[in-house]
Amino acid sequence: MSRPAVLIVAAGKGERTGLSLPKQYEKLAGKPMLRHAVEAFSGHHVQVVIGPGQEALAASAHAGLDLPPPVPGGATRQESVRLGLEALAAHKPQYVLIHDAARPFVSPRIIAAVTGALENGARGALPMLAVADTLRRKDGARWSTVCRDDLFRAQTPQGFTFADILAAHRDHAHTPVTDDMALAELAGIPVERVEGDERNFKLTSKDDFTLANALLSAGQTRSAMGYDAHRFTQGDHVWLCGIKIAHSHGLEGHSDADAGLHALTDAVLGCIAAGDIGQHFAPTDERWKGAASDRFLAHAASLVAQKGGQIVHCDVTLICERPKIGPHRDAMRARIAEILGLDIACVSVKATTTEGMGFTGRREGLAAQAVATVRLPQ
Ligand code: CTP
Ligand code: MG
Repeated sequence: MSRPAVLIVAAGKGERTGLSLPKQYEKLAGKPMLRHAVEAFSGHHVQVVIGPGQEALAASAHAGLDLPPPVPGGATRQESVRLGLEALAAHKPQYVLIHDAARPFVSPRIIAAVTGALENGARGALPMLAVADTLRRKDGARWSTVCRDDLFRAQTPQGFTFADILAAHRDHAHTPVTDDMALAELAGIPVERVEGDERNFKLTSKDDFTLANALLSAGQTRSAMGYDAHRFTQGDHVWLCGIKIAHSHGLEGHSDADAGLHALTDAVLGCIAAGDIGQHFAPTDERWKGAASDRFLAHAASLVAQKGGQIVHCDVTLICERPKIGPHRDAMRARIAEILGLDIACVSVKATTTEGMGFTGRREGLAAQAVATVRLPQ
């Protein structure tokens, strides 16, 4: 089975947080919440639904990601989902996972569980959790205890056969419900439960952001380094850290020879012990001839995201006599920040010469070192 398409609804106003931005654009560990959710599904076709006037916020949240343009949502979540499904219909996916942008901690395990249930023939599947607290009902002035034994909390992603859920949304557009499972049930689609996850909570209040930040600072932190060098050749420009710089020479290499991005890609791969750049993008492969190296870095970042990890900091050192890096440093930082969806404050670019010593000193080529730091869930 091909991977299900993914619909992420992010068209709400996030009014209950009382924060200045709609909550999906508020930053968690330097990255908009929406981007955390999108990256968790990297490798899938992801369609995002956004609210009116949120185009610029969404464009900056999605910078560097290969996504179709977001579609405008509606006044309710239900309407936003329906509009998103209509946009996905052109792709004729067999399955779809519908997810809230407000659940940035969706884990690879949950995605695999919902997808697995669909693969095994379920027409609908969703993560659910038992209720642990005692529940109280208020009826006027009277309070009573509700038996919680048969009660469960529904989360997202909720997975369906695409044709089923699109038809359910079209047929029941005027019956207000709070999630897609409720519509599936109205349409008579049987649904299966998979185990949810407390971490996959929906950020609703300002306090939830405090909790989310605490969760993100937990987990394990790993750092790894990368190194690369390229030889100068004839040419009039070089690519370094994603920036084109006019120069008296070019750099020799199978791709665009961007030693800065190559070193950083290896550092990111090192954090998850996922081999090196040559293993993922063989230098003999014609597809990567002349390729822009931002795609190598974006791929490494997507592998981190698939493990539920976050890149939290990176530091690149370029080693060369020329070109001068100083004038381009901030543009390089901005470009790397864009590719990784990181705050620019978490991206460092440094440069040094080797005082005329060695191959960089003789201007035969240049080299780059990088260190990346990644936080992974425990
Ligand atoms: N959503 C949407 N379109 C709407 C309303 C909500 O796409 N018209 C999305 C939200 O962006 C969120 C998800 O549905 O990802 C769950 O909704 P909720 O947590 O209620 O978010 P908001 O509606 O944004 O928050 P609030 O209710 O506090 O305003
Ligand atoms: Mg809402």
